Amino acid sequence: MAVKVLYARVLLSYYTGIRHSFLGTPLDLTNFYYYFFHFFRDFVVVHYGKCCMSLKKFSYQIPNYAKIIKIKADFNVSDTNIGGFSMGRSFEKSLAWQKRARAALVGGGQPHKQSQPPRPVMVAGAKGAHFWDADGNDYIDYLMGYGPMILGHAYPTVIDTVTKYLVERGNVYNFGHTLEVELAEKLVQIIPSADRVAYFVGGSDATTGAIKFARAYTEREKVIRSGYHGWHDWCSHARGHLSGAAAATLSVDFNDLEGLADIFKAHPGEIACLIMEPSGHDLPKDGYLEAAKELVNDNGALMIFDEVKTGFRYALGGAQEYFGITPDMSVFGKALANGFATAVVVGKKEIMDEVSDVWVAATFHGEVSLVAAAIATIEELESKDGVAFMWKQGQKLLDGYREMTARLGIDTARVGGIGPMPFFGLSSDSDDEKQQRFHKTFYEATLDGGLYLPEGHIWFMSMSHTDEDVAKTLSVSEDALKRAKAA
Ligand SMILES: Cc1ncc(COP(=O)(O)O)c(C=O)c1O
Repeated sequence: MAVKVLYARVLLSYYTGIRHSFLGTPLDLTNFYYYFFHFFRDFVVVHYGKCCMSLKKFSYQIPNYAKIIKIKADFNVSDTNIGGFSMGRSFEKSLAWQKRARAALVGGGQPHKQSQPPRPVMVAGAKGAHFWDADGNDYIDYLMGYGPMILGHAYPTVIDTVTKYLVERGNVYNFGHTLEVELAEKLVQIIPSADRVAYFVGGSDATTGAIKFARAYTEREKVIRSGYHGWHDWCSHARGHLSGAAAATLSVDFNDLEGLADIFKAHPGEIACLIMEPSGHDLPKDGYLEAAKELVNDNGALMIFDEVKTGFRYALGGAQEYFGITPDMSVFGKALANGFATAVVVGKKEIMDEVSDVWVAATFHGEVSLVAAAIATIEELESKDGVAFMWKQGQKLLDGYREMTARLGIDTARVGGIGPMPFFGLSSDSDDEKQQRFHKTFYEATLDGGLYLPEGHIWFMSMSHTDEDVAKTLSVSEDALKRAKAA
């Protein structure tokens, strides 16, 4: 490490007596740390005991905090110490793991999960609404594995239920099984568009299944998409995809009713379905979902809601329940099983019974661990009123961000989404140096302060985001905005 280590048992609290003399400004403890570390930015001062926790608490106040090396061994903090504190953000171990990943994994791992400091690089574990990296840096998580972790990471009741079923019943069978029937009955009860359920593994698998069903039912090939639906050939233009498959996929922007009508006009009798995310960063305009459904059905096509993100967060019955509009078919994944990869296509019986012979089958569809996890997840959300809780916590963030950006006069911020899937972001015009600096300072300061705020992606709330997490998020964010303004 380039950073020199000055290891000293300095009682920093001793210095806090200088409150009224430093730079002629009244100083509190936080400011003291700020100036102290600004001054000694290339050194590390380690102080035992209580003060270490203070450093963690105020880490976001300290310039170059990431440079402050951790001497974790002295404090018995292991990589997997859930409640452990991190004295600064080092990335040494994470980067070593990344090197190993590059030698062992294709591309070093999935493209969207590649990262560099100051962002977290390699996760070592997660619990509740927090995750920590290989160096022990802890973050409040607002991406939650891109959505699945609706209850929280390593959620005990889900883990216990899955373990129990695996131990008592095994996992994959030659025939249908009782537990998959139990979950299907539950989904039929809670999702408005569900009379019948088909199991899949992961969202891409399920959206592809829904498209197959729609093509079989309508005997048409073209589909219209609106939103993200996964990586399979029909909805991806990535290098290596089958161009013929994507050629049958047309695309329309969210909330663009006219554009949708134009596609139907241009392709009479050819469109099997519209598959769309019903909501996201932008909410549907008044009447858009209803009008789109009418247009789709009038043209003999099926309306499919891709609720892979919205499922269980807008409501247990998804965005369709929240907006009061029932599509012909829907896809649920991600949060369905709190991190287990189950996904489902559900639909009205007139449609699903007609396509029941379509080959959408795989070894792991409906396997016990996935189904058990989904059952436990739904039970927990129902018994603890989890959806209302996420609405409440997310709304506090939205209100807080709106209030603070107005008060601080920040007009490059975007606050959007809804309670359980809120969004806060800063525009960063690449030609505008000041905006770039603002953006960089804000995100670095929030990371240093222990927040992982997804940039440009919708956020996901969970039942584990506590009042304390929300309060810390707002206070670290406000401080980061102030520092970004001053940068
Ligand atoms: C709306 C939507 N549909 C489908 C998918 C694909 O799901 P998966 O990544 O589980 O294959 C995603 C993933 O982000 C999604 O957000």
